[in-house]
Amino acid sequence: MTATQTQIKHEVKDLSLAALGRQRIEWAGREMPVLRQIRERFAKEKPFAGIRLVACCHVTTETAHLAIALKEGGADALLIASNPLSTQDDVAACLVADYGISVYAIKGEDNDTYHRHVQIALDHKPNIIIDDGSDVVATLIQERPNQIGDLIGTTEETTTGIVRLRAMFRDGVLTFPAMNVNDADTKHFFDNRYGTGQSTLDGIIRATNILLAGKSIVVAGYGWCGKGTALRARGMGANVIVTEIDPTKAIEAVMDGFLVMPMDEAAAQGDIFITVTGNKHVIRGEHFDAMKDGAIVCNSGHFDIEIDLKALASRASEVKTVRSFTQEYRLNNNKSVIVLGEGRLINLAAAEGHPSAVMDMSFANQALASEYLVKNQGKLEAGIHSIPTEVDKDIARLKLQAMGINIDSLTPDQTEYINSWTSGT
Ligand code: ADE
Repeated sequence: MTATQTQIKHEVKDLSLAALGRQRIEWAGREMPVLRQIRERFAKEKPFAGIRLVACCHVTTETAHLAIALKEGGADALLIASNPLSTQDDVAACLVADYGISVYAIKGEDNDTYHRHVQIALDHKPNIIIDDGSDVVATLIQERPNQIGDLIGTTEETTTGIVRLRAMFRDGVLTFPAMNVNDADTKHFFDNRYGTGQSTLDGIIRATNILLAGKSIVVAGYGWCGKGTALRARGMGANVIVTEIDPTKAIEAVMDGFLVMPMDEAAAQGDIFITVTGNKHVIRGEHFDAMKDGAIVCNSGHFDIEIDLKALASRASEVKTVRSFTQEYRLNNNKSVIVLGEGRLINLAAAEGHPSAVMDMSFANQALASEYLVKNQGKLEAGIHSIPTEVDKDIARLKLQAMGINIDSLTPDQTEYINSWTSGT
């Protein structure tokens, strides 16, 4: 063990995995040019000097680049996992051993360990919290209200986390600024749609090696993540059924060419079910009863609440692990249902999460939102703030530039026209 490894506080699986982690982190960096530029600027300007920062994220090769950028920007950074199954142990090892970042994350950690790590994160007395699902912020508010005074603000990565922050604001307990990274255009258009779309199918394929062509795939939820998943499933030759509770999104799904029906009907038709709604028990007892023998169910929403696994277990005479991340529930009705990744987000449990090219923009938003909070300390009202449009557009411009794609700009005549109201028909 090197001096660095012994000094940096951590709980990771095995520090000897660091070399593999480093190789994979470097590979991911090839597709993350925007975050690289931000990191280079941070290294010079040190916007986080003196700032204690906690990041609760999926510990992946992409998150590694965010953590390194924040550390080079001067942050006293501590990283914990935002899900018990999403940690890449080699990445966690490399961040501790090679970059001197405190990491508390082990793939497969139990719920108690997960919550203990949230407490360790709060023991760090953060000034900035980068959250993914809002667990750290919710715990701060509920269990450590005396530490809220230390906090400059938080940034939130996911739709689920934003829904929770809105509920906190309604209840009058969100007494500090929260930057809404999820709703930045350069985040959800790409990460939620193309990232979730590709990585969810990647997770299903890695877990099962199943052919998707010709299968009936039921996608529950037609938000950005559901749209991406349905689109990519169709691209693989599946017949896609969408279920929704929102009438407008349901029309959108119909006009995008998908079959739309309630889960009660879809249950008997699907070969594979993917939940991406953010709500609980989207697939429940009566749906399992109606499913075909061998139906596969999985979730790509943030929490493991979308599939009612208790209801499934109560119908099962036997549960058997048949492949990694793949469990067969043999039901009392003589059929079986296959559950992937214990109902946790399958794209990170069985695959590697969203590809680096989209996380480049998501984490550019995280890095710049954190900097914005520090620069505007004391000036922002309590509540949820959008990412400033200039920041969002700058990230898009940098991404396009890195992709080598040029676009048009307005002529002076067009600028004048678009800003005037006097000339019509
Ligand atoms: N969320 C989804 N994919 C991710 C990834 N690759 N890294 C971090 N967070 C993610």
